[in-house]
This record gives sequence, structure tokens and C-alpha cells, in this order.
Amino acid sequence: MMPASHDQSPSLAVNGGPGRAGAFGRWLGMASLLAGLVLTVPPVTVPAPAMAAASRVSSQVERVARGQYLFDAAGCFGCHTDEVHGGQRLAGGRALDTPFGTFYPPNITPDPIYGIGNWSNAAFIRALRHGVRADGSSLFPAFPYTSYTLMDDGDILDLKAYLMTQKPVAQPNRPHELKDPFGWRVLMPAWNLMYLEVGPLDTNPHQSAQWNRGQYLVRALGHCGECHTRRDWAGGLDQRQMLAGNPGGNGGAGAPNLTPEVETGLGKWSEADLLLLLEIGLKPDGDVVGGSMAEVVRNTTSMLTLADRKAMVAYLRSLPPMVFPHVEPHR
Ligand code: HEC
Ligand code: HEC
Repeated sequence: MMPASHDQSPSLAVNGGPGRAGAFGRWLGMASLLAGLVLTVPPVTVPAPAMAAASRVSSQVERVARGQYLFDAAGCFGCHTDEVHGGQRLAGGRALDTPFGTFYPPNITPDPIYGIGNWSNAAFIRALRHGVRADGSSLFPAFPYTSYTLMDDGDILDLKAYLMTQKPVAQPNRPHELKDPFGWRVLMPAWNLMYLEVGPLDTNPHQSAQWNRGQYLVRALGHCGECHTRRDWAGGLDQRQMLAGNPGGNGGAGAPNLTPEVETGLGKWSEADLLLLLEIGLKPDGDVVGGSMAEVVRNTTSMLTLADRKAMVAYLRSLPPMVFPHVEPHR
């Protein structure tokens, strides 16, 4: 039992003596005490939920901002927006001509019917990590999930958070026009068994943080190898020739060797040369990059921080030099 003296708060004394009135008074007293607490010391009691909500909001804002940076670093915009025909942002893509036929990248706006608005986080991770759609069917590697698989889950979810802030567009997808058997989705699980090395990318403990960041930017986000690596007849990347150039790529015009080999690669390029190319597309000979690389510079590498461009360059310059038949630059 509480001693009587403790029962007597100042407000109780004001509100009367024992009996029903006393009980009511005690109740009132408690209530006003509580109210007093609430009114006089809000920072300690009430605001906890409000503060949690505020930090949720700010962490959501940060998540979307990180997602936007990843979106640029991964170059999602270009394929999924039909810029040439004035298509709406991310509502479905430009025609991608490949040796296997023409792909039309789908609507990835938050529209619940035509876009990916109804996709769960798990479904989105599965698409990037395993090349599988929300309905369980396989995606074609014209969507470079073979590189995005190397992203980590946190980054994939930040990217999704950003996509969900984009304008929903109710625009149906255009079917691909592919040659048999390349349009057969049922073959893709077998293709994945042959070619897909499921991520995420491991950190290499023998290399610096900068090198690891560069590897992540080049291999996972920037998917540089998708163009700069030779493919076999089935469209699989030749891992032994990673980044050593692809004479048949880019509609036959070729993508050059990015390894530091002196004659056919980037062996004569200084760090500053490479940084300038990634920032503004200028080559050491005064020419500017053309073709699909111009777009990569505009939408991707120029949007990165200088530290990230330096990390990419450090990684590229550390690659084992590989000779490759000289690739005529695209005009
Ligand atoms: C090189 C072009 C290209 C790039 C870059 C690209 N995509 Fe795609 N994406 C495609 C194509 C093509 C498909 C359709 C593949 C198919 O039909 O199997 C696709 C499909 C998708 C799908 C499945 C949608 C559905 O309805 O099935 C998602 C999700 C997606 N992409 C998200 C992204 C994100 C996020 C990025 C950036 C990290 C990105 N894409 C970058 C070409 C691209
Ligand atoms: C969509 C295909 C594509 C992607 C993705 C791509 N590139 Fe390229 N890249 C090209 C093509 C094509 C050229 C040749 C352009 C030219 O010479 O006008 C090129 C040229 C270059 C050059 C100039 C090399 C030289 O010898 O002239 C560098 C450096 C380069 N790319 C780095 C990168 C890096 C780093 C990435 C990843 C962030 C990347 N590329 C992603 C297609 C691509």
C-alpha cells in the first residue's frame, strides 16, 4: 500500500476530501497531473512516435536519393524510355536491335497494371538477381540482369524506392520481335544455368576500398562488360575475355578493349585521360565518343561523383591486359 501522504497531490487537496468526491478528485488529479506532464515535458514523453515517424520520413528520403544515384549509375533510364519518339519517362523502351531480334524494354513506372507498381520487394530483387519476372517467367538477358545480379540487396531496394516515386504511366508493353528460338522464354532457365553467375559481388579483401568500389561500379551497376565483352552464339558473355572488347557489339560497330593492353586497349591512356572520357566523353585524340557510349557518358558516368569515376578508372587500370583484334571506333 502507498502511504497516504503520497496519495495527496496538490490538486487532490484542492478537489476535496474522502469519499466519492475524493475518488473523483483523485481521478481528476491524476488526469491533470498527466495532462501537466504532457504539456510541460513533451520532449521526453509524447514525441517518441513523432520522432520515429520523422526519422522514418528522413530515412525514406535518403533511401530515394541513394536510389536515384544508383538508377543513374546503372543506366536504367536509356533502355526503358523511348526518348527518340518522345515516349514518357520509363514507360517502355526504345527499340533494342540485337542479333536475336528487336527487344522493347517494358514499362517500369509504378503503374499497378502496366508497370511494376504491384511488385513486391522480393519480386524486384528476384528480377535483378535472377532474371525472373513477378509472374515467375524468365527474363531475357537483353535486360542486363547478368550484371545487376552483382548488386547487393540494399542497393536494389533503394533503387526500387526511387522508381516508386516516379510518375505512373498506363502504357501497355510492346511485344518483342525475336527470331526463333531466341524468343522462347522457356529456354532461359537453361541459359541461366550456363551463363548466369548469381551475385552479389564479393568484396576482395586483398584490394583497397577504392578498387572494390570501382569493381562494383564497372561490373554490377555500370554493366560495362555487357557491351565491352565478346559474346558467343547464344549471347553468353565470354568471361575469359571480360572487358577486352567486342568487335561484333553495338550493331557491328564494335566496343573497344577496356583492359590496359598497350596496342589494342587503354594501356596508353593516363588516369586523367580516362577521367575526362567518363566525365565528358572526350578522347585523348580530341575526338568525342559516339554511338551508345555517348549515351553511357550522358546518362551514367557523367552523373557520378569524381570519387566514383576515379574508383572505376582504378579498377579498369588494374585489369590484366588482354590483346584483342583492333576495333574500329563507331561513327
Ligand atoms: C540494355 C537495356 C536495359 C537496361 C540498361 C535496363 N533494362 Fe530493364 N529491361 C530491358 C529489357 C529488354 C527488358 C525485357 C526483358 C524481357 O522481356 O525478358 C527489361 C525488363 C526489366 C524488368 C522486368 C519488367 C517486367 O514487366 O517484366 C525490370 C523490373 C527492369 N527491366 C528494371 C530495370 C532497372 C531497375 C534497370 C536499371 C538498374 C534496368 N531495367 C536497366 C532492358 C534494359
Ligand atoms: C551500350 C554499350 C556500352 C556500354 C554499356 C558501355 N560502353 Fe563504353 N563504349 C561503347 C562503344 C560502342 C564505344 C566506342 C565509341 C566510339 O569510339 O565512338 C565505347 C567506348 C568506350 C571507351 C573509349 C575507348 C576507346 O578506345 O576509344 C571507354 C574508356 C569506355 N567505353 C568505357 C566504358 C565504361 C567504363 C563503361 C561502363 C560504365 C562503358 N564503357 C559502358 C559501348 C558501351
